[in-house]
Amino acid sequence: MTDNDALRERIAGELSAARDRTTYLTTVVDEADLVRQHSPLMSPLVWDLAHVANQEELWLLREVGGLTPIHPEIDPLYDAFEHPRSKRPTLPLLAPGEARGYGHDVRGRVMDLLEKTRFDGTRLTDGGFAFGMIAQHEQQHDETMLATHQLRVGPPVLSAPPPPAPSDAVTLPAEVFVPGGPFTMGTSTEPWALDNERPAHVVDVPPFYLDTTPVTNAAYAAFIADGGYDDPRWWTADGWAHRQRAGLEAPLFWRWEGEWVRVSFGVALPIIPNEPVLHVSWYEADAYARWAGRRLPTEAEWEKAARHDPVSGRSRRYPWGDFEPTPEVANLGQRHLRPALAGSYPLGAAPSGARQLIGDVWEWTSSDFLPYPGFTAWPYKEYSEVFFGPEYKVLRGGAFGVSPVACRGTFRNWDYPIRRQIFAGFRTARSASLETA
Ligand SMILES: [Fe+2]
Repeated sequence: MTDNDALRERIAGELSAARDRTTYLTTVVDEADLVRQHSPLMSPLVWDLAHVANQEELWLLREVGGLTPIHPEIDPLYDAFEHPRSKRPTLPLLAPGEARGYGHDVRGRVMDLLEKTRFDGTRLTDGGFAFGMIAQHEQQHDETMLATHQLRVGPPVLSAPPPPAPSDAVTLPAEVFVPGGPFTMGTSTEPWALDNERPAHVVDVPPFYLDTTPVTNAAYAAFIADGGYDDPRWWTADGWAHRQRAGLEAPLFWRWEGEWVRVSFGVALPIIPNEPVLHVSWYEADAYARWAGRRLPTEAEWEKAARHDPVSGRSRRYPWGDFEPTPEVANLGQRHLRPALAGSYPLGAAPSGARQLIGDVWEWTSSDFLPYPGFTAWPYKEYSEVFFGPEYKVLRGGAFGVSPVACRGTFRNWDYPIRRQIFAGFRTARSASLETA
């Protein structure tokens, strides 16, 4: 098998994995549920269904293949920049059957195109980039659809086995030490990395300590019990104003019934104390960290803890090394519908000793979403560039509902600091050097 054949096989596998997941998420509910808006924060599921097909047509059939548009008249309906999510239910969207038919039609033509594509002609096809981008895009919408499922009210429709319990019973230290010094952040070589992960550049990070695992429900409940939501000392001015306005008292989907209960995909159960906390905003994460006498890690600290190998001096693709994620090293890919207990996945530990940096919960960092030095927008400004600025905070590491194809040690996610319908948790840090403590 040539390298091109192997790449073709990988692309076909990733595209069909994404479509299988899309199909699952949109066939476990009925048609009325597909067209309903479950939250003003989210699109109706049927919008995502046709949008992924439309983007696949735009980038693969039209840009790579040079083919004539199939339905140019629907392009504006599925342009995420033309219509905010809250307005999408009012659009003359394709009905569920039509959306599925369109997706099927596009995919059939993409598979024909894939057979003919050489992977060294243009920047879009180099290393299969555009195909990888589209597989990631569909999986990112699957993650968004999973968030819509979590917001949906009604009997549970999704099920999955619980994550495996930690396989080692050792008591982990609360924090790990990451020595100071330069490391390589970002990538110039990862073929399917998106523009905001590029280019690789050296960053000097002072020594710091990082929580070994994400912050747990029990730790977060202690913050609540200690009056953390009622003490403005722990909150930024913006965070406190938001906490007051929105009436925040606990993570989203938590409710007090004599004990904390969390609703997860329609199932209400007492919180699991040692499970990473989920569905907290950046403001809540930041307030918790101050209450704990700590702070959120910077994005550079997070990536150094996750990738830097102090023995070789190089940055790994993932905390555990360079091989792709497997079920033994990280909780990714919606195999489970919740994070694994803190301390799970010893085989996925970073050289620093930190665990679960990849998978389980997205982790808020203290950093604004900004371009790396030498950034150039590719292949379109609306992927990242229009979002750069202080209004968005960076999240790292992916969550249980993130596909491995859309998760790397360099992968950057971003959102508003008030958002908490995303699968976000966090861990905390502290500086090691006295002058920066
Ligand atoms: Fe999209």
